[in-house]
Amino acid sequence: MKLPRNFFKPLAIGAPTPLRELPLKLERMIHFVPPHIEKMRAKVTELISQVDVVLGNLEDAIPADAKEAARAGFIAMAKANEFGATGLWTRINALNSPWVLDDIKELVAAVGHKLDIVMLPKVEGAWDIHYLDQLLAQLEAKHSINKPILIHAILETAEGVNNVEAIATASPRMHGISLGPADLAASRAMKTTRVGGGHPDYKMLADLAPGADAGAPRATYQQDPWHYTMAKMVDACAAAGIKAFYGPFGDFSDPSACEAQFRNSFLLGCAGAWTLHPSQVAIAKRVFSPDPDEVAFAKKIITAMPDGSGAVMIDGKMQDDATWKQAKVLVDLARLVAAKDPDMAARYAL
Ligand code: GLV
Ligand code: MG
Repeated sequence: MKLPRNFFKPLAIGAPTPLRELPLKLERMIHFVPPHIEKMRAKVTELISQVDVVLGNLEDAIPADAKEAARAGFIAMAKANEFGATGLWTRINALNSPWVLDDIKELVAAVGHKLDIVMLPKVEGAWDIHYLDQLLAQLEAKHSINKPILIHAILETAEGVNNVEAIATASPRMHGISLGPADLAASRAMKTTRVGGGHPDYKMLADLAPGADAGAPRATYQQDPWHYTMAKMVDACAAAGIKAFYGPFGDFSDPSACEAQFRNSFLLGCAGAWTLHPSQVAIAKRVFSPDPDEVAFAKKIITAMPDGSGAVMIDGKMQDDATWKQAKVLVDLARLVAAKDPDMAARYAL
């Protein structure tokens, strides 16, 4: 194991010093842009004020014969725009692909000073993070990049899920992890062609009424096939001090199911989700900005317990040091949203 005192040393002479704390940023939606399509690139200037993160996708969904155009398109869109507080991320190709080395080398050389985060797909274990960590440090040093480019892993293989704790703690460059339900379903041989969400056949049956015959109709309850992975990922991320995200929701024609999937992840601890279609941006904004009524109640708790200790009753509900901490999670997030969104600031009365 690496010595604790070496963990925060740069991995190349001249590379920037790794961060000890993640920058405090609102990342409710990571909006995917296919950068090889000029029409989509042209929309980025307008998109910057509407989303928290713009991500140029180089991996799956980009055809093999457009990989180089996507890379060049990403560099062009990064150069052509000022992103301000909006994050600029890219999803590079997988480490076993023929394109990834050029993705990393060309992006860092051309726009490394603007690039906040590299999303790495199909991460299997800490070794994948170590490779990218070292390579980024060498390239940062070579191109005099003065702020470390962070790494975001996609959890989308069975081996990755097995190793999620080691992935989360592999490097101070780790920003967070997203659940990738499409590749993960394939990797596990789950029998579904859906991208996220439930499945009508993944369900429990209510007990038979006493005396009813075995074929009598009874209630069924759909279950959440992602619950286990999501909870495991959230624990790994929270323990490592990094952020957890839900990934893609593929059925654009079912906004309610998308909202339910996003909301489950929000309630379990995720900071945001991917948006693949413009219609999903409003859903993510609604879901990952805390509910004003919940925030109002959380503010009551904090006001009633100024130093965060003791026990009080509010509206018939017991509050103590632990609920004060729960309240603080909501109010801290509301402050972050309020700083970006004046309408929400008014609704939170912050
Ligand atoms: C995302 O990349 C997924 O495979 O779901
Ligand atoms: Mg994938």
